[in-house]
Amino acid sequence: MQERVHTVQADLDADGWPDLGTPDLVWASASMHHLANPDHALRKVHDTLAPGGLFAVVELSGFPRFLPETAPQDRPGLEERCHTASDHYHAEHVSHRGADWGPKLIDAGFTLEGERVFTVNIDGSGNPAIGAYALSSLRRLRGSVADTLPAEDLAALDRLLDTDSPHSITRRDDLAVRTERTVWAARRG
Ligand SMILES: C[S@@+](CC[C@H](N)C(=O)[O-])C[C@H]1O[C@@H](n2cnc3c(N)ncnc32)[C@H](O)[C@@H]1O
Repeated sequence: MQERVHTVQADLDADGWPDLGTPDLVWASASMHHLANPDHALRKVHDTLAPGGLFAVVELSGFPRFLPETAPQDRPGLEERCHTASDHYHAEHVSHRGADWGPKLIDAGFTLEGERVFTVNIDGSGNPAIGAYALSSLRRLRGSVADTLPAEDLAALDRLLDTDSPHSITRRDDLAVRTERTVWAARRG
């Protein structure tokens, strides 16, 4: 396998892409919404694919949730309020997140073969990997909400993020990963 895979680093918003050959499959996972001009990239993928080749676009409408609605005890619903604040930030800074990629793929010349939503709900109790995932996700979230969150919520968030605190999110036994991914499968004619 190792000798059949190699990586290429490229800015997909740039006009010139490196030579990628004529792949039968292109898979874009949670990346298209980051592009400044995704329509341009979709057309480039279309023209790069071999005739009959498949393009899978995996996208998310939002970030995963980890805490129960009743948490933390002194500021219940904190995580949802963080996401509401973050959604405003992302609407301004990452405007293609949550887009409907079906019409965009058709405009780029693809035939849409299918669209499926995958719901993820993984019980995290006693799983340190989920505690670590929750910690890194909420740390990133803090960066986009620190300026807009009420002071009491920000203080509660900081207690969750403080790994030395007894309130640290990594010490909770009631975490779960709840999220959704949508996959569009599109074919070049
Ligand atoms: C949310 S991460 C997804 C990472 C991984 N594909 C996954 O599914 O876990 C978004 C990715 O988009 C890439 N990205 C953002 N803008 C890009 C650009 N202009 N050209 C190429 N890649 C870009 C980032 O480098 C990052 O790896």
